[in-house]
Order: sequence, then structure tokens, then C-alpha cells
Amino acid sequence: MEHEARNRHFEALTQQPDLLWLGQNTNHLPAHPAVLAAMHAAVDDFSFNAYAPPLGMERLRALILEDLGLDPAVFGVIVTDGAVAGLSHAVRTLLRPGDELLAAEPGWKWPLAFARSLGATARELPVYEAAQGYRLSPAQLRAAMRPETKLVYLVDPNNPMGTRFEPEEIEAFAEITGDAFVIHDCTYRHFAQGHTLLAPFAPERTITTYSFSKWLGLAGLRVGAMLASHAMIARFAEAAPNALGSSVLAQRAAIAGLEHKHEFLPMVIAADRAAKAMIAEAVAGVPGLALPVPVSHGNFVAMDVFEAGITPEKLVAAYAEAGIMIRQGGYHTKRYAERFVKISTTVPRPWMERFCATLPAMVERARAMNDVPVSY
Ligand SMILES: Cc1ncc(COP(=O)(O)O)c(C=O)c1O
Repeated sequence: MEHEARNRHFEALTQQPDLLWLGQNTNHLPAHPAVLAAMHAAVDDFSFNAYAPPLGMERLRALILEDLGLDPAVFGVIVTDGAVAGLSHAVRTLLRPGDELLAAEPGWKWPLAFARSLGATARELPVYEAAQGYRLSPAQLRAAMRPETKLVYLVDPNNPMGTRFEPEEIEAFAEITGDAFVIHDCTYRHFAQGHTLLAPFAPERTITTYSFSKWLGLAGLRVGAMLASHAMIARFAEAAPNALGSSVLAQRAAIAGLEHKHEFLPMVIAADRAAKAMIAEAVAGVPGLALPVPVSHGNFVAMDVFEAGITPEKLVAAYAEAGIMIRQGGYHTKRYAERFVKISTTVPRPWMERFCATLPAMVERARAMNDVPVSY
């Protein structure tokens, strides 16, 4: 009963009040007061007794388009229960059995699972190579495209590597994908130093997904969005899983977040950059550890442990004993599961200090481990 064990594992994590959440790219910095006030107001006025509008609150839809800088004359929005619900809906609507989805490996596995569950195939293109900058290259995608490739899934910035595409790569992907659909998963866009949307280059076949879990810290509220041409939005609206609208509380929090983004995001980015600098210093002090992508554009870094002679699972287990959650590469990839762990960077400074100060001892502890519990 793997699924039950997995659930008990995550339940147990939530029952650890002092756990340091450094494993899921979530944001544990203090929320903006306006976001908290919006949630309190939504409780106090009982607006949660009614369903929200099916495609999302109009104010929120407009703010998301504005945040991305997409033209409302061309693109529409469906507010979803987290970005993952939009990804699921897009994959299940666009693919048929026998079709193929292409994605980079390592990447984010759930859209691949959605594709496989409906009888499509999901093919992964290996990118964990210094020579190609740890990201999908246009040449690699061009060589991989086949007639049955109906959907290309681009995570940009990439989770787990933290890489992001250059404008010319995005333009090339728009051309190379021909008439296939493209999902541009922009969950980590707000942390990137420069980011180019693919949608304007292929408006009629691009689905852009958006998340409030990371930059705004609303992971547990489940709110995100999918954006596409009005014709595609009409198709997605026909049988949307959240046909009765998404959470009223979450949407009101998201509206307040976007209205105060200019005050909130700079604080988040400053904490993120400071944490990354601390990790870089700590990693430099431990032989065998390395940061394959020194400048991560996500709110996390991938740390290669291979040369240190430990497995990612052992390091995860060592930190878990100390009440710190980090993520093993095996969550993202089979092929490179032995190589890396991932550490979140939008966390309070004392958390990061504890992670860094204990790194040498944790590597030692990992070396001494024999039996390692299953990692999820
Ligand atoms: C690449 C990627 N896409 C989507 C998601 C899910 O985002 P949400 O919390 O908005 O459902 C995640 C969460 O980690 C992610 O890493």
C-alpha cells in the first residue's frame, strides 16, 4: 500500500511542529499583512458559503494576466486548485492514448504521470550535463520531436535544476514544436533573473501555468492558474475539474498578494538570494559537494553529492533525524537519482543557518548510515 505509506509519511511531517521545511520549494517567510487580512475577512463575512465564479474571480483573473504581461485580447485565464490542477487538466484534455509527451529529465514528474494514466507515453530527455548547462537544448528537442509528439512540457525555471531558458531558446522552442501543444510551467518565474514567456510566440497552442504556492507562500491553500488563447480556454472550460470554482479564501488571498506584490516580493527575493549565498559557502567547505547550477532561478538549489561518496537518500535521512526536510533527486528522476538533493531557499534565516552549520556533520552521518528508510 505504497500510496497509504506515502500519505502517512507526509502526515507525520505535518505533525512535527518544529520541522524545517527545506524540501518542497515552499515559502516559509512571513506573509504580507494584507494577505492575512484578506483571509480573515473571507472567514468573517461567510463568503465561503457560496461557490466562487467557475473560471475564477474576475479581479484575480485580470491581475494574473497583468502580472504575466499577457494581452487580455489574446489570452484568457482559468483559476485552478494550484498549478498542478491546471497541468492535469491540460494534459488530460490535449492528449489521447498513443500520443507522446516530451519533457526534460530531471524535471517535475506529475504531468508525465497524468499522460501515462490516459495511455499516452511520456519520454524524458536527459539534461543533467554540464556541457549543455543542465537544461534542454533546442537541438536536443528538435532531434526528439516525432509525429506522435503532441505535447512538450517545459518547466522554466526548471525544478529541480534551477535553470531557465534564454529568450532565443524560447523562440526556438516555439518554432521547433511545430503544431504540437506546449505547456510552459512558470511556477518559479518570480524568482528568475530574467524570464521569457513562450505564449506570445505560439499563442494558439501554448498553455502557461501559474502558481501562488512559491512566491506568495500559499501552497496549502491550493490556488494557481492556467492561461491560454481564448479558443483554448473555451475548450478547457467545457469540462474543468474545478467547474464549481476554486477556494474563495485562497482567491482573496491571491488577489491581496498580487495587489501588494511590489512590497512583498523584494523581501522574498532578498531572503532567497541570501540563503543561496549561505548554501554556496557551506558547500564549498565540504569536499565532494558541488552546486551544478551556481545561479538558480528557482527558490531552491540542487546540490550534487555524488563525489562525496554518499547517496541523496542517506543525506535526506540524516537531516530528517535532525528535524530538517530536504529532497532526494529520486523524487524527480530515476536516471540521476544518485546525484543530488534539493534545498529550498525561501525560509527564515535561522533555518538556513542550521542547515548550513550542520552540513559537514550531516555528510559524515550519512556516510555512517547502513539502513536508510524509504524516501518519498
Ligand atoms: C514545476 C512545478 N509545477 C507545478 C507545481 C505545483 O504547483 P502548485 O502548488 O501551484 O500546484 C510544482 C510544485 O512544486 C512544481 O515544482
